[in-house]
Amino acid sequence: MCQENTNNKKKVLSCIQPSGMLTLGNYLGALKNWIAMQDEFDCTFAVADLHAITVRQEPAALRQQIYSTYALLLALGLDPEKNTIFIQSHVPEHANLSWLLSCYTQFGEMSRMTQFKDKSLKHPENVNVGLFSYPVLMAADILLYKPDFVPVGADQKQHLEISRDIATRFNNIYGDVFTIPEPYIPKAGAKIMSLQDPTKKMSKSDDNPNSWVAILDSREDIIRKFKRAVTDSEAVVRFSEDKPGISNLITIYSAVTDKTISEIEKEFEGKGYGEFKLAVGEAVADTLAPIKARYDEIIKDKKTLEALYRAGAEKAEKVARKTYFKAMKKVGFVL
Ligand code: TRP
Repeated sequence: MCQENTNNKKKVLSCIQPSGMLTLGNYLGALKNWIAMQDEFDCTFAVADLHAITVRQEPAALRQQIYSTYALLLALGLDPEKNTIFIQSHVPEHANLSWLLSCYTQFGEMSRMTQFKDKSLKHPENVNVGLFSYPVLMAADILLYKPDFVPVGADQKQHLEISRDIATRFNNIYGDVFTIPEPYIPKAGAKIMSLQDPTKKMSKSDDNPNSWVAILDSREDIIRKFKRAVTDSEAVVRFSEDKPGISNLITIYSAVTDKTISEIEKEFEGKGYGEFKLAVGEAVADTLAPIKARYDEIIKDKKTLEALYRAGAEKAEKVARKTYFKAMKKVGFVL
C-alpha cells in the first residue's frame, strides 16, 4: 500500500547508466530489487546519463538510450508517483556538487579505483579526466539525496566506499552536511552469468550476442539463446560449483519462477538438458513479455514520457538544491 507520509521511511538512492540494452542480468540482479524496495523505502532513481559520456557515445544513440532507459524503468513497474525518477543531467546540482567534492578528493585515491584501471586499459585512446573523476560524480549523485541505503552491485562497491570517505572527510571539516550511506545488500539479488561462458558475468558489452538476453528481446530470441546456452556433458540438472552453466540456468529459472533449487532439481529429474533449457527460455520469455508490452506503449507516447521525467527532475531538484546550497555555504561561498 502507498503510504501518505513517507517521512518516516528510510531513504534509498540508486542510478543506472543508459548504456545500451539492459539485460536479464540487470533485471534479476538489480532492477527487480528496486521494484521490491519502492513500498518499504522512500526511493530516488536516476538515469545516469552524465556518466555515460566517459566513453564516447554516438549522439543519436545516446539520446535514444536515455529515453529508452527511462521508459524501461517505468515499464518494469517503478511508480513515478511513489518514487522520484529522473534523468541525472536535468538536475544541474549533480555536476555542480561534483566539482565541489572533487576538491575534497585526492588524486591518489581516485588512481586506485579498479574500474578506472580496467576502463583505461580497455580504452587507451580515450583516458579522459571524466573517466578518472567518475566516482566523484557518483558521490554527488548519492550525497545530494542523503540516502540511508544505496543498492549497488559488487562492481560499484568501491565507488560507494569512496563516496562514504569523501562525505566523512567533508563532514569532519564542516559539520553534519552529508548522510553517510550504507550499501544495501538485497535479500535476493541473483548474479546472472553469461550464457556462453558461465564463468563470466552476463554483460551487454560481450561481443557474443548469444551470451546475454536483453529485457526487450523477442520471445523467439530469448528461447533461441537459452537453447544454445553452454552447459556440460553430465546431462543431470543439478546445482553444483563444477557445473556453472546448468547452475546459472537453475539460478535464472529459480529467479523467474520463485521455485527453490531443490524443487527445480526434482522437476527435471531424469529429463534432458534440451527440455530444461526450453523451460527456462519459456519462463524467462513469460516474465519479460508484459514488461516489453508496457515498454512499447510508454515509448510510443513521448509527451507523457516527457511530462514524467520533467516532473521527476523537479521533485529531485527540490531535495538536491537544499543539500548543494548547504555544502556551498559551509565552504564559504556567497549565496
Ligand atoms: N556507476 C553506476 C554503474 O555504472 C551507476 C551510478 C551512477 C550509480 N551514479 C550512481 C549507482 C549512484 C548508484 C548510486 O552501475
